[in-house]
Amino acid sequence: MTRRTVRIAMNGVTGRMGYRQHLVRSILSLQQQGGLDLGDGTTLWPEPVLVGRREHALRAMAEQHGIEHWSTDLDAVLADPSVEIYFDAQVTSAREDAVRRAIAAGKHIYCEKPTATSLDGALELARLAVAAGVKHGVVQDKLFLPGLQKLKRLVDGGFFGRILSIRGEFGYWVFEGDWQSAQRPSWNYRAEDGGGIVADMFPHWEYVMHETFSRVRTVQALATTHVPQRWDERGKPYDATADDAAYGIFQLDGGAVAQINSSWTVRVNRDELVEFQVDGTHGSAVAGLRNCRVQHRSATPKPVWNPDLPATEAFRDQWQEVPDNTEFDNGFKAQWELFLRHVVLDEPWRWDLTAGARGVQLAELGLRSSAEGRRLDVPELSL
Ligand SMILES: NC(=O)c1ccc[n+]([C@@H]2O[C@H](COP(=O)([O-])OP(=O)(O)OC[C@H]3O[C@@H](n4cnc5c(N)ncnc54)[C@H](O)[C@@H]3O)[C@@H](O)[C@H]2O)c1
Repeated sequence: MTRRTVRIAMNGVTGRMGYRQHLVRSILSLQQQGGLDLGDGTTLWPEPVLVGRREHALRAMAEQHGIEHWSTDLDAVLADPSVEIYFDAQVTSAREDAVRRAIAAGKHIYCEKPTATSLDGALELARLAVAAGVKHGVVQDKLFLPGLQKLKRLVDGGFFGRILSIRGEFGYWVFEGDWQSAQRPSWNYRAEDGGGIVADMFPHWEYVMHETFSRVRTVQALATTHVPQRWDERGKPYDATADDAAYGIFQLDGGAVAQINSSWTVRVNRDELVEFQVDGTHGSAVAGLRNCRVQHRSATPKPVWNPDLPATEAFRDQWQEVPDNTEFDNGFKAQWELFLRHVVLDEPWRWDLTAGARGVQLAELGLRSSAEGRRLDVPELSL
């Protein structure tokens, strides 16, 4: 076996996503399994170079995980020709500038969503990456979740017949931060810092709908801020200027209607933190992060509306679990592996910065739809 080392500048690794999902669960986990077997006698060895603003935090993390290289000087890391990939999981508002610099330095780009804070900015990044001839990608982790992979399997297998509707329910209660600390960073609740649930979640919903069903043609959304005051990481009160709940209706190519609620101000009475119910002429499914249950038309009960009687059937028991039939790895790691293969072996890859821009576009149009109180077309993007 020959070893092919790929050095990756990882910016934003002290954050929730950067640390847990990308550094620990993806890159370090690939190292723990001995690298990525490319199947041609080569093992790809990903080597992180940690980048960030806070020296003490980076040093402590590097020591804890035995990582040799880290720096607070992004430009110096980008000037190092042995670094091939720039990865960005910083706060959203810091991404565009850093990714631009990385493209200018000729690095391949992989980054978290949303790729920028505006559609213009996101498209510009895609154009710059194409013009520079670098490889580029955006995280679309939900596609690699077991529940959504099973759902996609059902769609591809023709289970649903004609798909009529999709109802998505995402959310949980994010504590305000006063009497119990908040479980998400405070910038998420400040519009001026790139926060807001539309900017955060509509990019996910765009690729979930696009890849699992079909392209989104229109959006109608109502975004609101239910909790106007929160307390930050230091216990200081601040005005929550960003939307913390969004109620969206989307029309898809082919006629299906998707309705997705996203909220940080609901309490969970579901099996999973996100669930999608898909109803088709031949069957229905409810998919979450891990599980997926189905009901075929041949097994559909015939409820009769009668409010005078208690419910006679346990409706939720009438669904059947879809088996795994395979092993599912961590979704972030699975996508990292495909990106690394794309970079080194030139394997096909479609989750690029243009796909990232589609997510930003849906978020931008969702917010505009809400502000203007009307349904908007979602034009196809071209670079
Ligand atoms: N794919 C997903 O499921 C998913 C989930 C959550 C967040 N995200 C995305 O990941 C990115 C990071 O989110 P997070 O929840 O990890 O955030 P976080 O606040 O936990 O981490 C942010 C990181 O950015 C760094 N940073 C750089 N400039 C900063 C600045 N000016 N102010 C504050 N921090 C700064 C921080 O040091 C930290 O490393 C966001 O773009 C978010 O949209 C993706």
